[in-house]
Amino acid sequence: MDKKNWFVIYVAAIAAMGGLLFGYDTGVISGAMLFIEKKWTLTPFDKGWIVSSVLVGAVLGSAFSGRIADKFGRKKVIIVTAVIFFLGSIFSAAANSPEMLIWSRILIGLAIGVASFTVPLYISEISPTNIRGALVSMNQLAITIGILGSYFIDQYFASFTLSWRLMFFVGVIPSILLAIGMIFLPDTPRWLVFAGKDDEARKIIAKIESEDKAEQELNIIKNSIKEESGSSYLDLLKPSLKPALIIGIGLMFFQQMTGINTIIYYAPTIFKMAGFVSETAAIAATVSVGIVNVLLTVVSMFLIDRLGRKPLLYGGLVGMTAGLMLLGLAFQFADQLGSSLKWISIGSLELYIASFAISLGPIAWLIIAEIYPTKIRGAAMSVATLSNWGFNFVVSLTFLPLIASLGKTNTFWLYAFLSIAAIVFTKFFVPETKGLSLEEIEQQLVTLKEDDIEPLEI
Ligand code: BGC
Repeated sequence: MDKKNWFVIYVAAIAAMGGLLFGYDTGVISGAMLFIEKKWTLTPFDKGWIVSSVLVGAVLGSAFSGRIADKFGRKKVIIVTAVIFFLGSIFSAAANSPEMLIWSRILIGLAIGVASFTVPLYISEISPTNIRGALVSMNQLAITIGILGSYFIDQYFASFTLSWRLMFFVGVIPSILLAIGMIFLPDTPRWLVFAGKDDEARKIIAKIESEDKAEQELNIIKNSIKEESGSSYLDLLKPSLKPALIIGIGLMFFQQMTGINTIIYYAPTIFKMAGFVSETAAIAATVSVGIVNVLLTVVSMFLIDRLGRKPLLYGGLVGMTAGLMLLGLAFQFADQLGSSLKWISIGSLELYIASFAISLGPIAWLIIAEIYPTKIRGAAMSVATLSNWGFNFVVSLTFLPLIASLGKTNTFWLYAFLSIAAIVFTKFFVPETKGLSLEEIEQQLVTLKEDDIEPLEI
């Protein structure tokens, strides 16, 4: 591999610590909750708050940080986020009341909300075109490792006296690595040009691209930014930006509404519904789902810049639909299936998670990091990210009530139906961004030059 590629792989790996924290801090609560319940007398409402406070924080964090990333740069925002992760982990570990825990989890949520889009944003803007898909997907890989790591850490600390405090405290380590690592990394060439620091941008591009291409690349970025007229939240309302906003919000809608976090947050519950009697067996099955999630994300990273985003999306969505339909069917014929139900449930959930991991998982975050104009990329990504957390909140909150009212079969079929709708959405709205520079994508998809809208390339 080219020596220059190693530099960007290193840069992406450091920034992806933000993804690791995102995964870890969303995953850790399921195990920690078992012990928190024993420490304080909690009403179901308190418990609901302790679990969902992170999502509330993430909604707030993603809503208010987009312009800050455009104004002050991607790097500074990621460093501040790391500090908030650090403080949130310490405060959660030290919480001496449920209220303090809820506030600390909101703080962590704020950091997750900001990290969830600034990390892909940072990586996409610093990556060379030919491996941008794989590099940005390192963030998704880190998310899945964070989720899986949280299952193991939860199990490891379960027998310790300070169990849940230690579980939260572990988050301190990646936050320190992220903060220190980022201090020594540059900001992205695109943001540097936007901030008028062309010389610095030139130096970074020279580290990423071959010498002969560097000057040319700098000029392309400069011209493209010069042509963009946006720079405030109001610019997001311009008609020329509408297609890109629909793509971003639509992808996030489908990423969440097809049920991924019913599996990530409730897998042990689903496995128990399917007949796994012991908690240990249900948790072991959940760990296997976490492992498949990590492995197939790696597979996706190898394919994403070769096959392209859309073929992977189609393949993954077909697999997700099949997994969900199978699961629904299995619950429909539960009586006839007897003990085979649990094996079919594992098989269908593995198929579902594998298909998500090669497609909607990494690709939704990747595409929103590719399709917006530089000057308002942070603001536009924060809108898409806000919708991601909002939809996540809705699905997590409605899953158990849906099971109670519609039944298991219909609930999973509803998610299957939405996966089919996602295939149609991909066909008609999602652009293929493989092999195009961010400037070329902008040129083809949307431009902030007043009335000059190129047709959407699908
Ligand atoms: C999603 C998360 C999900 C995770 C699972 C991410 O892309 O945004 O909501 O928990 O994938 O791997």
